[in-house]
Amino acid sequence: MSQVIMASSEREFAIVVFGASGFTGQYVVREVAKNCKGKFKWAIAGRSKDKLEKVLQETASELGLFVGDVGIMVADCSDEASLSTMCSAARIILNCVGPYRFYGEPVVKAAVENGCHHLDISGEPEFLETMQHKYHNKAVCAGVHVVGTCGFDSIPADMGVVFTQESFPGELCHLESFLTLHSGPKGSKGHYGTYQSIIYGIASEREGNLKNLRKELFSKPMPKFGPKLARRSFISYSDEVQKWCIPFLGADPSVVIRTQRHNVEVRDKKPVQYGAYVSQPSLMVIFLFLFFGFFFYILCQFKKGRQLLEKHPKFFSCGFFSHEGPTREQMAETSFSFVMKGAGYSKKAVQSGDAPAKLDCQMVTKVTGPEAAYVATPICMVQAAMVILEETLPNSGGVLTPAAAFTGTSLIDRLNENGVVFSVLSCKESGTY
Ligand SMILES: NC(=O)c1ccc[n+]([C@@H]2O[C@H](COP(=O)([O-])OP(=O)(O)OC[C@H]3O[C@@H](n4cnc5c(N)ncnc54)[C@H](OP(=O)(O)O)[C@@H]3O)[C@@H](O)[C@H]2O)c1
Repeated sequence: MSQVIMASSEREFAIVVFGASGFTGQYVVREVAKNCKGKFKWAIAGRSKDKLEKVLQETASELGLFVGDVGIMVADCSDEASLSTMCSAARIILNCVGPYRFYGEPVVKAAVENGCHHLDISGEPEFLETMQHKYHNKAVCAGVHVVGTCGFDSIPADMGVVFTQESFPGELCHLESFLTLHSGPKGSKGHYGTYQSIIYGIASEREGNLKNLRKELFSKPMPKFGPKLARRSFISYSDEVQKWCIPFLGADPSVVIRTQRHNVEVRDKKPVQYGAYVSQPSLMVIFLFLFFGFFFYILCQFKKGRQLLEKHPKFFSCGFFSHEGPTREQMAETSFSFVMKGAGYSKKAVQSGDAPAKLDCQMVTKVTGPEAAYVATPICMVQAAMVILEETLPNSGGVLTPAAAFTGTSLIDRLNENGVVFSVLSCKESGTY
């Protein structure tokens, strides 16, 4: 029988940033440098030593920090031994190597087998749920936390639901979130890594892998609490953000639903029904999105189509995605906000033990932050890591969503202090909603 290596604080490095030479990885390195300074020993890892040295030098000169004591480790996803060496030297791996469907599993496996916590910034539900299916029990046995989607996908949404639930004066039944991305005069942009993850995420939908996986992973139907949350039509006007909206097609809804399942099964809490929407500047933008989105979707279905998309990211994303990614100026001018409208039973209704037929309490909360993918994501990921290093988590381990892992910790307070801010906008404890 193989020996289980337990998570331990006796490791050479508190944090190792894997994929540190990537576009997102380099910003995670800067965030780790700021947070670990004088507190924790840390290292960077990747497949090219030259690139890693360059990232470290740039970080040092930009932040004016001494980095002579920062470790450098060469590791490659196709080399199991190098991953084991990396994971056995670290308390936590911050994994920035994506698309995760191609590179993620060997790193999770090495982390679990070597007693090392693992955080990633994947926004790929199929990868995340496959990891839960294959490694949850092993991670529990090893006392290891494997927490996916620790970036903009999906900490603001997942912890935003927790924040609304904890602030709600009574019992929250429904929550709808409306995401708005604000950009400056130079526009906002995305890097190729995310573009590639989107292409292969769409491509794998047709194979139905995720549907089949969910049948195995979630055999029991999710209980409902309160009246059914009505889905909005594909294009709807939101009074909450005073903009036209479409459903949010990213990972957030699947992550929040997994958290709600965890709450029901592990914490004996009532589930919150969730709907996620994203606002658009105008109806014209939505029609253009649908028009181009249709061709994009079709091309994703064929190998030659995917190759074409991968070869011309700027053309097929109307200039949004590129190998260069956003400039510092574009990032500085960009920000995000989630407006979250929650409805449920007021304290009075809950205390009387006689819930009214209609929901009688409404709360609106907001989560705001800087540029989503390369500024907010490193903040979220690194603050999550700080919680693991400095606090005792409610679960003793497992493959978990951010809210399943971090509810009951100081993550929201830490995010508030670092620029991802959670606030209550209004609360009405009478009426029907
Ligand atoms: N959750 C969020 O909101 C969020 C935000 C931003 C990004 N992301 C995700 O983060 C991931 C990375 O995106 P990115 O734009 O930073 O991509 P990127 O610039 O292409 O970076 C990929 C990194 O992976 C490394 N890598 C590739 N193959 C490897 C292998 N076999 N072994 C070890 N390392 C390997 C690359 O190393 P080299 O430098 O040696 O090529 C590079 O460091 C994507 O999945 C993206 O979707 C998520």
